[in-house]
Order: sequence, then structure tokens, then C-alpha cells
Amino acid sequence: MRHQHTVLFVDDEVNILKALQRLLRTEEMNVLCASRASEALELIEKHPTQVVVTDQRMPEMSGVDLLARVRERQPDIVRMMLTGYTEMKVAVDAINRGEIYRLITKPWNDDELRATLRQAFDHGDLKGEIKRLNQITREQNFKLQDMNRNLEGKVRDRTKQLAEKHQQLRTAYVQTIRALSEAVDAKDTYTRGHSERVGVYASKIAREMNFPKDVIERVYIAGLLHDVGKIGVSDAVITKPDRLTPEEYEEIKRHPEIGYRILEPVEFLQDVAPCVRHHHEWYDGSNRGYPDRLRGDQIPLPSRIILVADTVEAMTSDRPYRKALSLEAVVDEVHKYTGSQFDPKVTESFLNLLEREGESFIKKDQKFDIYSFIQD
Ligand SMILES: [Fe+2]
Ligand SMILES: [Fe+2]
Repeated sequence: MRHQHTVLFVDDEVNILKALQRLLRTEEMNVLCASRASEALELIEKHPTQVVVTDQRMPEMSGVDLLARVRERQPDIVRMMLTGYTEMKVAVDAINRGEIYRLITKPWNDDELRATLRQAFDHGDLKGEIKRLNQITREQNFKLQDMNRNLEGKVRDRTKQLAEKHQQLRTAYVQTIRALSEAVDAKDTYTRGHSERVGVYASKIAREMNFPKDVIERVYIAGLLHDVGKIGVSDAVITKPDRLTPEEYEEIKRHPEIGYRILEPVEFLQDVAPCVRHHHEWYDGSNRGYPDRLRGDQIPLPSRIILVADTVEAMTSDRPYRKALSLEAVVDEVHKYTGSQFDPKVTESFLNLLEREGESFIKKDQKFDIYSFIQD
């Protein structure tokens, strides 16, 4: 086979085949001939053929039937008929049913025949090219879908791992802060567990006030650390069982500022440091608050919550000079100072919470995990 394209003519009249061969000798195509349908079917199996042109009326099989078989076996071959006027109707029907590509009538015009064959090869080439491109597109789509699936899975896994790592770090961070706050409370046997309980009460109030998770977390951490500045106050003053002198009281009053200075350089405690600084400010901005005499909304919200939690915790714990007070006394005190010392929004939520929880609100030594608390 010398050329890229091959045409097969099928006709029971050998003279016609010879004429066609002669006609196409100089064309750039291989010409195969068969005088019987069975021979034609054998030839297309052996030689890659792009176009089959057949007569209609032949002894063992009609042209339409032959082309139906060709279509069955090699659907990409372009099928045409070369037929006399008497069989035209059959051929036209076959064209209309989409079974054959084109019809050439006998006797044919040489130029027309050549041109039609060219068109048939082009038609076949084009169909082949479209098929090839479709196949490539399909394969690439499959590959892309596959890649996407893998990628999605990987992203999901990595995101999950990162979230777990992040949570481990947060937990380790809170544990470290708790250790620090316990060290502060340990300066005085009477305040053991004070900071932790203030953190717990404060986060319960914050959740009651419907604050988002990150605010509740900050309130808890600020609660744990609110008295960290007591590290800088002398033990003698902190543990003194008797009434403090005015000088000693001034020294105690420095603890929010000392706490602020300890925490402020720590990058991940930047939001917490001001909450610690202002946890003894009064809501009315009076000089009973310290260190900056802020008022109302100037006082960070966690500080306002911690102040209530701090008071409640202190009143309900034993002190060297008195026993723990009752919840009724706490409620009275909170009412008495709402609006002056305490933010009314905070005390309202606290009192609602207390009404619901009663004594269990101040139950000591309860296990508390801030992250499961936030999730609840
Ligand atoms: Fe304090
Ligand atoms: Fe405190």
C-alpha cells in the first residue's frame, strides 16, 4: 500500500472495476477491487480501508446489505454506492436512513467521481480526528476527576490533622496558664484554687451572655490570670491575717498593673493583658476602682465579668478572718453593688445562672475543661 488512503470498489462487472482502476491510477490513493461481497468483506479485514464503493445489484448479496455488514464490522469506513438509474430508489432510501454517505450514478463523470472520493476521504479523516479528540478529552476528564478526588481527600486529611494539632496546642497552652495561676494561688493557703474557680465562674457567665467561643475562651484565660500580679506583692502582705494598713492596701492594689506588665510582652496574651489590668475597675468609674478608673464600656468586657466572678468566689470561700458566706449574702451583695461596682448586664446573667444552678454553681473541685465547655 503506497498511499495513506484506500478505496475498495465492489462490482460484479469486471469491466467497471477495470475502468475505475484505470481512472484512478494517477490519484494519490490505493485502489482495491472485489467482484463479490464476501471477497470485499475479506479485503477490508486485511487492508485498512477508509472508503467502500459498491454496486447495488450483485448475485450473492445486495450493495445495501453489504454496506450494512461493513458498518457492523468497521463503522468508521465511509460507505458509498455506485449504481444505475434502475436501482436509485434503494440507494436514496439508504442515504436517507443515514446508512450511506453518498451516491454516484452510472455512468459516472470522471471528475465528479474523483472529487466525490476526495470528499469521502476528507469526511472519513475528519470523523476520525473528531473521534480521536473526543477520546483524548474523555481520558483527560477522567484523569482530572481522579486528581480532584485525590486532592479533595488530601486537603480534608491535612485540614483535619491541622485542626487536631491546633487543638493540642491550645490545650497545652491552657494547661501552662493553669500551672502559672496555681503557682500564684499557692502563695496563700486560703486562696488555693481561687484563680481556676474565677475562670470557671467567669466563663459560665460569658456563655450565659451568649458570647462567641473565642470570647468565652479569653474570659476563661483572663480569669485564670487575673491575679498573676500578686507574684510581685510581698508574701507578708498577701498572707496577713489581720486588717491591712493603708500602705499595705496600696501595695495589694498594684497587682493588676504588675499582672499587666507580666503578660503584655507575651504575644498570644495581648488580648488578655488589658482584661487583667482592669479587673478591679468600678462600673461607675468612681475612685474605688483601680488602676485607671475606667467606667462602663471603657472597661474590657472580660474584666467586668471577672470582677463579679472574683467577688462571688471570694465571698463563698473561707478566709482567715471569716467563714464562707451563703449564696443569699452573695445575691444581696451583687444587688447592692449593681450599677456602681458591677455592670448590670453581667449581674443579670449571673443571677439568672445562679437561680438555675443554685449551690452547684459554686461547688468546688469540679472538673472543668474549657474546650468541651465551649462546645456544649
Ligand atoms: Fe484581683
Ligand atoms: Fe482575685
